[in-house]
Amino acid sequence: MSDPAFAHRYGPWALIAGASEGIGEHFARQLAARGLHLVLVARRAEVLATLAEELASTHGVEVRTLALDLAFPDATNQIRVATADLEVGMLVYNAAVSLIGPFLDHTIEEYRAEQEVNCRRPLELAHHFAAAMGARGRGAILLMSSLAGSQGSPFISHYGATKAWSLVFAEGLWGEFAERGIDVLTCRAGATRTPKYLRDTGEQKRSAFVPEMEPPAVVEEALAALGKGPSMVPGRANRLAAGLLQRLLPRRTAVTVMGRASRSAGVGPG
Ligand SMILES: NC(=O)c1ccc[n+]([C@@H]2O[C@H](COP(=O)([O-])OP(=O)(O)OC[C@H]3O[C@@H](n4cnc5c(N)ncnc54)[C@H](OP(=O)(O)O)[C@@H]3O)[C@@H](O)[C@H]2O)c1
Repeated sequence: MSDPAFAHRYGPWALIAGASEGIGEHFARQLAARGLHLVLVARRAEVLATLAEELASTHGVEVRTLALDLAFPDATNQIRVATADLEVGMLVYNAAVSLIGPFLDHTIEEYRAEQEVNCRRPLELAHHFAAAMGARGRGAILLMSSLAGSQGSPFISHYGATKAWSLVFAEGLWGEFAERGIDVLTCRAGATRTPKYLRDTGEQKRSAFVPEMEPPAVVEEALAALGKGPSMVPGRANRLAAGLLQRLLPRRTAVTVMGRASRSAGVGPG
């Protein structure tokens, strides 16, 4: 389902940070299907190469890969150099470090890496790519956030804080960039059955208390929401949960509910 209007508005190239699996892989699949050329970024070179080959032959688009660790400050510069000859009309920042469990179970170095990947790289990449998008008067910046970023989330406290950062950052940019033709959107996903989520939570531990979505549905809803507002929550059950947590419950109750959800998903202590 090639989509020339979409490709003209947000192409010709899209860069996806965190493209080798899960939600990012499905951004790659759905953007290639719409006719965008892709730059795929993640750490695993072989996985990226296999995906690139498949997407290029299936959809007839060009696909470049860039294997690097987004925790390293030099990653931004490497991306800048590798894309210097491309017109990148869309930035999807999907990669994240998500440290789970009691706060003191992780080292401060691990939290610093979480901040580098979840906040500093999207800040730098948005700053870099928005300049050219603004000059062209079109483009998109899509940041992955999470329902965990709407209030304090016990056992993923710092991860949740980085996702609150994405939400507030993207909302601000949305208000600023609309008049320059750049659509900014943050996708506040709920639990999504990605390989990482399944590895973290374990099939036997999860409960019906936490609604789950499949990655392609999250991506489809996010892409459909581009240009329609600063943020979106994919999935009806997630939208109901978000409304409850943000508008109906007192904030301290919302934090307690998130802590229970983490425990029941096997993230906190049992
Ligand atoms: N899954 C959920 O339930 C859920 C819920 C709410 C929000 N989200 C958000 O949705 C996004 C995607 O989540 P996900 O579950 O698909 O998996 P994820 O593990 O958060 O992200 C996976 C992608 O990011 C890449 N990546 C991770 N760390 C990296 C690093 N240091 N440098 C370069 N690439 C890195 C991974 O590839 P490599 O391993 O090859 O580097 C992979 O392609 C994240 O922003 C997450 O916060 C997910």
